[in-house]
Amino acid sequence: MRILGIESSCDETACAIVDDGLRVRSNTIASQHDLHEQYRGVVPEIASRAHVERLIPTLRASLRDADCVLEDIDAIAVGNRPGLIGSLLVGVAAAKALALSLNIPIVGVDHIHAHLWAGALDTDDPDFPALGLVVSGGHTAIFRCESPMRITRIGTTIDDAIGEAYDKAAVVLGLPYPGGPAIDRMAQQGDDRAHQLPISRLDPETLNFSFSGLKTALLYAVRGKPVRTGKATTFERDHTFWNEAQLRDFAASFQRAAVEAILIKLRRAFGRTENADCRTLLVGGGVSANSRLRQSLTDFATERNLDLRLPAMPYCLDNAAMIAGLAHRQLTESGHDDLTLNASPNSIMQASA
Ligand code: KG4
Ligand code: ZN
Repeated sequence: MRILGIESSCDETACAIVDDGLRVRSNTIASQHDLHEQYRGVVPEIASRAHVERLIPTLRASLRDADCVLEDIDAIAVGNRPGLIGSLLVGVAAAKALALSLNIPIVGVDHIHAHLWAGALDTDDPDFPALGLVVSGGHTAIFRCESPMRITRIGTTIDDAIGEAYDKAAVVLGLPYPGGPAIDRMAQQGDDRAHQLPISRLDPETLNFSFSGLKTALLYAVRGKPVRTGKATTFERDHTFWNEAQLRDFAASFQRAAVEAILIKLRRAFGRTENADCRTLLVGGGVSANSRLRQSLTDFATERNLDLRLPAMPYCLDNAAMIAGLAHRQLTESGHDDLTLNASPNSIMQASA
């Protein structure tokens, strides 16, 4: 079965064509980073307008890359939640128009579910039950997955997502947006023990995360004490006070603390008796492209003899291949949607008690 996927939840306009849930024929992404860089974050109104302009060219490119035509497509999949509502609506409207005109089924896919499927693409079906980790700009969470679709969240961030912390840390270090890749590159040449930044553990029972303390600790380490002058807060210095080597040390120390916080919770999750039947670890989200996290997860999986599903690089960041891939399993497990399909800013994901 050949599925065309559309993804427009945030700042990437993406289309992909995937056969039988696993074989990616094309994965086309039009990034909007150039438009949002000057604001150091995604501006929702600019994002939705750019999706309108870029969706049809991206769709055409995706069909060309896959060497097929619209008539070869068996179903349309669209990421319809969670995300920026204006951006999601562009993808959903396009998906409905295609499904109606081609007279084929439409499937609305949860973006977070889809990130967990990314590690299966171009390989084979993972075994279930599995534990899942999503690390992105908007989400940082651990899941128990009974199947590709039956997923329960068992831990989440209580403040910033890890990607958000990376992006904010990059501003403090004077690096360009998006900050994750820039910090990752710098950290590889820095001393990760130069600064003792806090590794969030929270209380020993929880699988939740917290990254705002780490972000603030970096801010104070780089800029010094905050000074209040009237209503404004200024700092003793900024990143220009430090030389390149010193900035690399900050980046490496930040990266060590951020990645270690993830590993602590994963060890806890796999250590729980109710998860003793999980031999698979599904990972997804933009931060799964991080070199240190990839190495730490690989070591962890080897030590525990787990089947680690780390996505190939093109499937880490937001993409439509994961949407089209999961849609195939969703069709089998729970059927298709109809033209009343709507977009939602919230995930369908249920948290455990
Ligand atoms: O999954 P994604 O494309 O979008 C969301 O659904 O949020 O993730 C984007 C996030 C950004 O915060 C970006 O800085 C981060 O992923 N990111 C990285 C790396 N590459 C992207 N963070 C750390 N290291 C990287 N190599
Ligand atoms: Zn994402």
